[in-house]
Amino acid sequence: MKTRKPAKRRPRVVHTLPALRQAIANFRTGGSTLALVPTMGALHEGHFSLVRRATSRANFVVVSIFVNPTQFAPHEDLTTYPRTFAADVTALAERDVALVWAPSIRTMYPDGFATRVVPDGLAKVGLEDASRPHFFAGVATVVAKLLIQCEPNIALFGEKDYQQLKVVTQLARDLDLKTRIVGVPIVRERDGVALSSRNRYLTAAERQKAPMLYRALKDAAAKIGAGAPIAKAVEQGRNVLAQGGFQVDYFDARNADTLEPLKASVGEPVRLLAAARLGTTRLIDNIAV
Ligand code: PAJ
Repeated sequence: MKTRKPAKRRPRVVHTLPALRQAIANFRTGGSTLALVPTMGALHEGHFSLVRRATSRANFVVVSIFVNPTQFAPHEDLTTYPRTFAADVTALAERDVALVWAPSIRTMYPDGFATRVVPDGLAKVGLEDASRPHFFAGVATVVAKLLIQCEPNIALFGEKDYQQLKVVTQLARDLDLKTRIVGVPIVRERDGVALSSRNRYLTAAERQKAPMLYRALKDAAAKIGAGAPIAKAVEQGRNVLAQGGFQVDYFDARNADTLEPLKASVGEPVRLLAAARLGTTRLIDNIAV
């Protein structure tokens, strides 16, 4: 006899705080654990890998979908950012997600909203913050709100946005939040390109060039691993990308924990981090050394 797969349940979708609170209170009865996966939607395998990790670690998984206006500068892509809400919810139904938290902008930022969380330290080391000075205050404010709203046991963030993962980990610690922040490795296309909702902006020609970014990071990491001077390997990586038609925002070796520039002494954990633009699309990536 054939065994039939159990029908997948669509996640419940809530748009208001009272509905969210009710749903979370229901999950909590009986001592269940809760995981939160914050996203801006346009979900892809990178997001799904966070969801998979979440379902393996907690009884209930909440995915938030909110394109957060406060982390976009006026010249950035807030209005054109991909929005695929119906498809996102359908995809999450396949993945055992209990709840989708999809607040409106009004719900997150009602009239008169006047409090921001402005991170320092890891958010001011001259990587993403150099090109996007507004970005981490927007991220920290929305992530603090999401963590307070959902009170999850764990919240999962991708290493793809490595500085963001570090800033959020620090935020949870500094604000005494009970949630444990969990980092998840980068999911890549077969050619090495890190999955990103913004990859769909690339033209066919740009998409062909995009793998160079990861290749340059991998090459630099291999050279450093083999004992080459870090500054030289990094400079070569930067040059290769510039010659390949990228506009490089940064390509740098940093302390993997503090994100500070490396000291002359050896023995620090090293992470290579890069952001570069192809046409109007900004790609970011990083790799452990
Ligand atoms: P978004 O870009 O939608 O990403 C949501 C989460 O998915 C982030 O933690 C991000 O690091 C992770 N992610 C994206 N692409 C990934 C990949 N290829 N491999 C592994 N993880 C990946 O990051 C944001 O949204 C926002 O800033 C947010 C944290 C939701 C706050 O608004």
